Amino acid sequence: MPGRASNYKRRRREVGKALATARGLFVTFEGGEGAGKSTQIRLLAETLRANGHTVVTTREPGGSAGAEALRHVLLSGAAEPFGVRMEALLFAAARADHLDCVIRPALARGEIVLCDRFVDSSRVYQGVTGNIEPPLMAALERVSIGSTMPDVTLVLDLAAAEGLQRARRRAGASAEGASPDRFEKEKLEIHEKRRQGFLDIAAREPERCRVVDGSLEVEHIARDILSEVTRVMAGRASGDGGQAARS
Ligand SMILES: Nc1ncnc2c1ncn2[C@@H]1O[C@H](COP(=O)(O)OP(=O)(O)O)[C@@H](O)[C@H]1O
Ligand SMILES: [Mg+2]
Repeated sequence: MPGRASNYKRRRREVGKALATARGLFVTFEGGEGAGKSTQIRLLAETLRANGHTVVTTREPGGSAGAEALRHVLLSGAAEPFGVRMEALLFAAARADHLDCVIRPALARGEIVLCDRFVDSSRVYQGVTGNIEPPLMAALERVSIGSTMPDVTLVLDLAAAEGLQRARRRAGASAEGASPDRFEKEKLEIHEKRRQGFLDIAAREPERCRVVDGSLEVEHIARDILSEVTRVMAGRASGDGGQAARS
């Protein structure tokens, strides 16, 4: 019965549209140290708020009370002697709390969540350069994230040496971040491997990930990111997941 089938399709489109508007937008920023994640989140949040959107900016590890308690343990290096598996489990625990307490409630209110690092950082830091076996990584993702994947992930791509130099300059300018954290301290070749790890994820998941050239000027990158996020928002409003605007 063709009539019934097309009714069903129309109904499904309507439901999809309603869900898309009820559910906020989840945007994550990924990339190495000093690639410009925090800078771009700040600028995007400012612009979106100026346009009347409610925006939650948050970060990992941390972002919720429980996860911030673990952030200190993870970044100070206190968990490092217990091995990468221990660290991976703690990152996953922190992420589960962050999702439950901050990210999912904001999305349910229809807000835009901009998150500094998320699952791809675990895939790269604990998976690629931590050598955690893929089945364990997949299991941790399942329990920590479930089905709450980002709508868009912006991968800021920058040569590791340049990123670290920027991070060091930034540290010099702030009393609080004067010494490098557990991950910033590692060798340049490890950071380059991570850069490639992020690019590999983006190549595998092109619907979700956009690679942005982090060596460009701050304002240029901000414009590219804004147009990407605007495109996805427009696509959701029209119920096609952004496909029409992308092609
Ligand atoms: N596109 C850019 N070009 C030059 N410097 C930048 C750029 N983006 C950020 N920076 C500077 O580099 C440093 C690191 O940027 P930040 O946004 O903190 O990186 P991340 O959060 O990825 O570690 C900061 O001092 C920032 O002002
Ligand atoms: Mg940062």
